[in-house]
Amino acid sequence: MLKKRIAIFASGSGSNAQKIMEHFKKHPEAEVAIVLSNNPNAYVIQRADNFEVPSHVFDRFDFYNTDNIVDLLRKMEIDIIVLAGFLWLIPENLLNAFPNKIINIHPALLPKYGGKGMYGDRVHQAVLSNKETESGITIHFVNAQFDEGEVIHQSRFRIEQGDDIEMIKFKCQQLEHLHYPRVVENLLKKMKTI
Ligand code: GAR
Repeated sequence: MLKKRIAIFASGSGSNAQKIMEHFKKHPEAEVAIVLSNNPNAYVIQRADNFEVPSHVFDRFDFYNTDNIVDLLRKMEIDIIVLAGFLWLIPENLLNAFPNKIINIHPALLPKYGGKGMYGDRVHQAVLSNKETESGITIHFVNAQFDEGEVIHQSRFRIEQGDDIEMIKFKCQQLEHLHYPRVVENLLKKMKTI
């Protein structure tokens, strides 16, 4: 049986991409087929190389003014698109080509602390400034708005007195790394694609 094929989009370090590549490295039914990035200097490209996963860098024009990325993903017979620290809004042509097959992860309990400009440390800073007693992660389907698609999974942690941004980020990352690969796998199963 042909393995189901995952495309990961990432703009930065790619620690989540790494966990997903690890999870599917020897998986009998699915594989990471390609890593795509808008940032030629993103560390995620190096991580993809380390796993011998091909990577592709694109620019804003390619992404928003052509069908090049859709064509590439179709040619590669991609079954699911996983955003992992990818910071650009997904254009209509890509959403239409992969309906309910694009998912994202966010380091907060959406709908709180989402939306344009809310990513990475900005999210953690806002959570801290508002003296929240808990935060968490959200994995959700992607639509044409930032952080607004249907929620697939949330998990949460307590914020203890004295927790700083680094600690909140660490707690988020632990949950992201634990859950994202498993959620991708479950979703592929539910889509009856594995
Ligand atoms: C992750 O924490 C992810 O939740 C966040 O970017 C980080 C990427 O880390 N995404 C967003 O904030 C999207 N709005 P990584 O490059 O180490 O996987």
